[in-house]
Amino acid sequence: MTDQNLAVIVLAAGQGTRMKSSRPKILHSIAGRSLIGHVLAAAGELSPRHVVAVVRHERDAVVSTITELMPSTVIVDQDDIPGTGRAVEVGIAALPADFVGDVVVVSGDVPMLDAPTLAALIQQHRAAANSATILSAILADATGYGRVVRNEGGHLARIVEQKDATIAELAISEINSGTYVFSVRPLREQLPLVGTNNTQNEKYLTDVIGLLVATGATVDAMPVADGWMVAGVNDRVQLADAARRMNEAIVRRWQLAGVSVLDPATTWIDADVSLEEDVELLPGTQLQRATTIRRGAIIGPDTTLLDCEVGEGARVNRTDATLAVIGAGASVGPFAYLRPNTILGADAKIGTFVETKNSTIGAGSKVPHLSYIGDTTVGEQSNVGAGTITANYDGVNKSKTTVGSHVRTGSHNVFVAPVRIGDGAYTGAGTVVRKDVPAGALAITVAPQRNMTGWVEANRAGTAAAEAAAAASDGTDAE
Ligand code: UD1
Ligand code: CA
Repeated sequence: MTDQNLAVIVLAAGQGTRMKSSRPKILHSIAGRSLIGHVLAAAGELSPRHVVAVVRHERDAVVSTITELMPSTVIVDQDDIPGTGRAVEVGIAALPADFVGDVVVVSGDVPMLDAPTLAALIQQHRAAANSATILSAILADATGYGRVVRNEGGHLARIVEQKDATIAELAISEINSGTYVFSVRPLREQLPLVGTNNTQNEKYLTDVIGLLVATGATVDAMPVADGWMVAGVNDRVQLADAARRMNEAIVRRWQLAGVSVLDPATTWIDADVSLEEDVELLPGTQLQRATTIRRGAIIGPDTTLLDCEVGEGARVNRTDATLAVIGAGASVGPFAYLRPNTILGADAKIGTFVETKNSTIGAGSKVPHLSYIGDTTVGEQSNVGAGTITANYDGVNKSKTTVGSHVRTGSHNVFVAPVRIGDGAYTGAGTVVRKDVPAGALAITVAPQRNMTGWVEANRAGTAAAEAAAAASDGTDAE
């Protein structure tokens, strides 16, 4: 249910120069989602009445990502006045004048902060009837963060930025996470009073705290239990660190939900993946985007699945698959490459060194060895021989191959599409299938074999092969 008294302002106008990237910082991804995507997801879970995103740097790219993820977001452009205080000032100006509730401020570059932590912050803010409540953290290394300055009674007095801090203040280990809840009225009153008289000549949001304290308002800072949750991402070292931390949390959550993960350090599970009990993940497995794996399936080692669906009890070994559906009890790999729109039926098999694309392999059917199967439909209980290639592309058009049910094709066939092989048909080894094969027929295109006896001794005299031939009595039919 919508919290009518809650607005969230997402700060997303900053430049992120330390990423050294042509892509805006908050559009970099961890766990398969952009940084801003994680922040919006957490914000959305709070069911706020308003979500406002303040943008400026790389505005269009940032806006298109935000509106795709959360179309109801109100977009506000920050002006030439820099600083987080200015960003919030333009953000709250976009809220309706009759909005009288609480404003949560979050940064687009703090991706690991979760909704339960934000909800606890809001609850504390409301229970204590504070004007502002800061989410803080006690860090062993506070470098780079604003410090939480408390008075003799331990009450929050103000925030000082690293660049403006005295040596004594730099020794403070409690930091400002950049996440806050404000009651909108005092925030509206104080923000215009914030100046830019600091080392960065910016309008600091953090200065609001000191101003509120001076008016006698109640403010507080709530330290978060897990400091890593509020880590900001400013460069690629921190990006990798955040990715690892988030992955650890995701892996742990699935382990506690009944998934076996043999090696958490080499198993990467995106935020949008869904797993069931008794799934087993072997080392080197990457499950990406909206991949779903049903009960009892075993994935890995060294397998990457992107947007795949894997059925109950399936086995997927050393495989790279994108947008593939793998049926219950099916077997894939080792060394298989499933490209988009591969659909594998129940108990079907894609074996070693097989590439598939845009193909449906029916229940119980097998493509066991060394094949390329593209734009193909295979019925049920058929076997496609080792080394079969579908020639699906004539240089201009792609064409379809259809293989029926209970078909047995020989090794090293080429199916020259468009072509159909009927139910129960067979093909011989080395067949190039250019014409449809009727149901129940045997198709062969191989030319008769001609043995030129004595050829090696006559034409390769003196070689090891000729000597071996001379000494042979090999039991072949010399014909
Ligand atoms: C800020 C806090 C600091 C805190 C830290 C936590 C201030 C003055 N300082 O510092 O106390 O410890 O976050 O990570 O707030 N942004 C805008 N418009 C701007 C400037 C920034 O929208 O004009 C956005 C950025 O895109 C970013 C967020 O605000 O999402 C924080 O800005 P950043 O420059 O990273 O602030 P810090 O120096 O990290
Ligand atoms: Ca930052």
